[in-house]
Amino acid sequence: MPNRELHFTAFIAPAGYHESAWRVVPEDPRSALTLPYYAQLAQIAESGALDALFCADNISIAEYRVEHLPQALFDPLELLSALAALTERIGLIATGSTTYTAPWELARRFATLDFLSGGRAGWNIVTTSSVLTAANYGRDEHPAHGERYAAAVEFVEVVRRVWDAWEDDAVVGSKESGVWADRAKVRAPHFHGEHFDVAGILPFPRSPQGHPVLVQAGSSDAGMDLAARYAELVFTRQPTIADAIAFRGALRERAARSGRSPDHLHVLPALMYTLGSTEAEARARQDELEALASSEFRWRNMLWMVGLDPDAFDPDAPLPDGLLAAPAPTSGAERLFATARRERVPLRELGRIHAGMPTNLTFAGTPEQLARFIARWSDAGAVDGFTLMATTLPDGLADFVDHVLPILRREGRHRSAYAGTTLREPLGLPRPPGRGS
Ligand SMILES: Cc1cc2nc3c(=O)[nH]c(=O)nc-3n(C[C@H](O)[C@H](O)[C@H](O)COP(=O)(O)O)c2cc1C
Repeated sequence: MPNRELHFTAFIAPAGYHESAWRVVPEDPRSALTLPYYAQLAQIAESGALDALFCADNISIAEYRVEHLPQALFDPLELLSALAALTERIGLIATGSTTYTAPWELARRFATLDFLSGGRAGWNIVTTSSVLTAANYGRDEHPAHGERYAAAVEFVEVVRRVWDAWEDDAVVGSKESGVWADRAKVRAPHFHGEHFDVAGILPFPRSPQGHPVLVQAGSSDAGMDLAARYAELVFTRQPTIADAIAFRGALRERAARSGRSPDHLHVLPALMYTLGSTEAEARARQDELEALASSEFRWRNMLWMVGLDPDAFDPDAPLPDGLLAAPAPTSGAERLFATARRERVPLRELGRIHAGMPTNLTFAGTPEQLARFIARWSDAGAVDGFTLMATTLPDGLADFVDHVLPILRREGRHRSAYAGTTLREPLGLPRPPGRGS
């Protein structure tokens, strides 16, 4: 069997994905507050023909973070619009919340990026897990998990209808007759659902990709259901190859049951990696980062990562019984609660057991070892590629492009140039047919 072509997206973060990265990289960490920092990451990723840059987002932050980490979480769509002007081929995936945005507005903003980038936009659909967000948007309560996902399904449905309101060939542009668009080929969504009412059309035609590529990262049952229905890329955090095989298999099966081709859904677990020219060097780098890690940051981050407000907890006490008895706010919280019920240790100690990292999958070694690791996961049917979280940036991304990709290319596992000009083409994703076609 020929080797499957792998897909990679690159996460962008100030100095890297390890919390201590900013303290070890030679660059001034304040550079992450300037456009050239992101332009450099984009240029490196594009030189390796990676599928996309991924811009995560949180629309609230717990204040402990300002003490420990460079904070540079700009609005993803605005940042990626700037990068669209500085790049030609790489995909641009921004995160957008279904709980705290209006669907028409989100549809318009992502379709705008799709136009400005010539068809390279993607939307990472999140329901927003942090309880702190409600107060930023003048709401009394953060909706519960099930409620957020129920609304998210309707949200994505209505966004797709807004994107499809203009037929692909609606624009006539006839100077002779003076007709810009054929009104008969424009039909307003007039959507009235349980959660949203959206009447009118976008003030511009259907975007180059028809729909920006849909991305999803929830791993709960409801998250998988949403992904199976709509997602074309899925970011996850499975810790072992066996878990990843089971997750990908289950998702593909659900996609097929929803009437979709499972091959139009790529699963890309988040992989946090540290490279070195020898294994010992890579491990020494990883150890240096870990030695600088703070236990105060870890327990807070562990709670933050699963949607809880760390300031509401006492680090010298176990997680309260009342909380453990209530439904978990996310799939990550379910795993954390299971450990907390078993261990009954103070939070600070729980933070050491649980690590509180953005992914459960970490690697340290040589480029050759990382290429072997990636090939093994791909050959086992565990992944369609990875979302790359270099512990340090920009060097970690450059090392991946310069030293890991050439090995994968020699084995026919990665292309050396982009196919086509849109994000859909290298991903092998069809353009969603418009209403009139
Ligand atoms: C790799 C990865 C990236 C994510 N990026 C974001 C993000 O940028 N913004 C956000 O609000 N949530 C993000 N999430 C969280 C998910 O969208 C989701 O809220 C979380 O996994 C809990 O949902 P679940 O209970 O369905 O798993 C990310 C999750 C993963 C695994």
